[in-house]
Amino acid sequence: MDENQHFPHFHFVGGNEEFLGLTISQPIAIINKILRRADKFKKTKEENMSQKVIELLNAARARELTAITQYMAQHYELEDSDYGKLGKKMKEIAIQEMKHAEALAERILFLKGTPASKPDAEIKKGQDIEPMLNTDIALEDQAIKMYNDAIKVCAEEKDHISKQLFEKLLAEEEDHFNFFDNTKDHLVKLGAAYLATLTGE
Ligand SMILES: [Fe+2]
Ligand SMILES: [Fe+2]
Repeated sequence: MDENQHFPHFHFVGGNEEFLGLTISQPIAIINKILRRADKFKKTKEENMSQKVIELLNAARARELTAITQYMAQHYELEDSDYGKLGKKMKEIAIQEMKHAEALAERILFLKGTPASKPDAEIKKGQDIEPMLNTDIALEDQAIKMYNDAIKVCAEEKDHISKQLFEKLLAEEEDHFNFFDNTKDHLVKLGAAYLATLTGE
């Protein structure tokens, strides 16, 4: 490929006429050299901007992978101990987190990054329902903080598509947070009577 295609540049067609003591082709070569440097600088700046956003997208993806693993594990445990209604809700939320992880991967790939493939934390197993809900509330709370920060950085970096993605995820994490928080509230206030409503299919 002709390297001159990447930046605006001047062409000189003709012989080597004199201009201020230089042949015309010399000043044109100097101008083109300056433009080429400016073009390279611009590309490096864009790459650095993407790099920063890719890191945030990947941190978010690793967080989503933790949430998926945690909620699916809880789904199996709840089904096992006959809290099917709550288990079903865990499964629904886990599937939403899968969609989040996938949307993040697609954006990372578009920005020419490599999507993270590992969760960012160990999951907890065998918890009773109240501590289980506390685990989930903490996961959502951390994601909310992470995505709020990411939105600010994306705005600074002028990456509006990534910003919109984080905003969409943030709204859904807030729904998840509210669900876990309300469920815990009911459990604390109503105890066994409320637990009974979480059983069955
Ligand atoms: Fe999520
Ligand atoms: Fe969530």
